[in-house]
Amino acid sequence: MTTSVGTPPTLDLGPAVGLSCRECGHQVPLAAEFACAECFGPLEVAYEFGAVRREDIESGPRSIWRYRRLLPVPSDVDRHPNTDPGCTRLVRADRLAAELGVRSLWIKDDTGNPTHSFKDRVVAVALAAARTLGFTVLACPSTGNLANAVAAAAARAGWESVVLIPSSLERAKVLTTAVYEGALIAVDGTYDDVNRLATELAAEHEDWAFVNVNVRPYYAEGSKTLGFEVAEQLGWRLPGQVVVPVASGSQLTKVDKAFRELGQLGLVEPTPYRVFGAQATGCAPVSAAFKAGQDVVAPVRPSTIARSLAIGAPADGPYVLDTVRRTGGAVEDVTDEEVVDGIRLLARTEGIFAETAGGVTVATAKKLIETGQLDPDAETVLLITGDGLKTLDAVADQVGPRATVPPSAAAVRAALTS
Ligand SMILES: Cc1ncc(COP(=O)(O)O)c(C=O)c1O
Ligand SMILES: [Zn+2]
Repeated sequence: MTTSVGTPPTLDLGPAVGLSCRECGHQVPLAAEFACAECFGPLEVAYEFGAVRREDIESGPRSIWRYRRLLPVPSDVDRHPNTDPGCTRLVRADRLAAELGVRSLWIKDDTGNPTHSFKDRVVAVALAAARTLGFTVLACPSTGNLANAVAAAAARAGWESVVLIPSSLERAKVLTTAVYEGALIAVDGTYDDVNRLATELAAEHEDWAFVNVNVRPYYAEGSKTLGFEVAEQLGWRLPGQVVVPVASGSQLTKVDKAFRELGQLGLVEPTPYRVFGAQATGCAPVSAAFKAGQDVVAPVRPSTIARSLAIGAPADGPYVLDTVRRTGGAVEDVTDEEVVDGIRLLARTEGIFAETAGGVTVATAKKLIETGQLDPDAETVLLITGDGLKTLDAVADQVGPRATVPPSAAAVRAALTS
């Protein structure tokens, strides 16, 4: 767990002491770098954690900053303007559990974040690190939720933002980004085209922090807070199984990293857990590789209503495969029809309206249970990472008023019994 990079850190990014290559272990000082100079592998934050006690966390702010001792952010992070996401609710889902036939089920409801998705977590950490690294503009290529989170965080911090999205994005996600009045550019192309463009622009504009490109190592660590919160909210223990939606795959690998770090630091018993990935069949490169027993993830051209998960060439795909295989989990995928059924099932049973990514998670959990891959007797957590109000089109032609009636009690009664 403790990693020494030889060079003392010159920046205050809390317990972070450097960056280390996930492939070859090559280490570099803390900087806005994301690819290893030796092998082009992805760089990851390396830490020297001090002693961290549960009480230190429990007495901290009601936001992800309660975990700052485990994140690459300065010790005074909560004194700077940020969106301060996190501490979303973990709810028991007994009615959904009964429908799915599982014994103990929880929903981690990340629709409760400031811009209604888990992306506020990663952006908050990226902004804090970018500030320390000397950036002044917050930028990203996005499948939608990240666009919301970056535009809002930049507005709050008084930074400029540059947000690139595929022009095919849902109208709600475009409007809920544009309202913050940063620079929003729609690009005619897929997310993967937009991502390539961002990498090119990041190399040319030294003051632009592309949260998921040149400051990706810091950004990605923000997803650990989902895992930290689940464990803390369960009373400092790990669940037996967790189901996570997969786009680039970063979130899934970081939830696993969070569980491992908590165990290594003695904050939880390091009990075994299994990590499952969820994709839409119309963009399921990681699921396809998992099922074929392959280590490489062949890129696909996405075609699914789950646009937030529509990344055809997922950067962390191979690490998702490593994680699910190491923990005894799996990756599964579901059709767009099943995604809509998943959204409706969660809404009907638990009163939680998720976006398409949440539909993917619920429907995948159902399929994993039906195919015997998920243990119905193990305590299970589903990560619901985005809000249904952003993807209304998914359900628009399936739900609506039962009837339109004149303002008379008899007409209402007639409609209710018809
Ligand atoms: C709502 C939602 N859930 C999950 C994900 C997947 O995140 P990752 O790229 O870390 O796999 C995304 C990505 O955009 C998302 O918008
Ligand atoms: Zn390397």
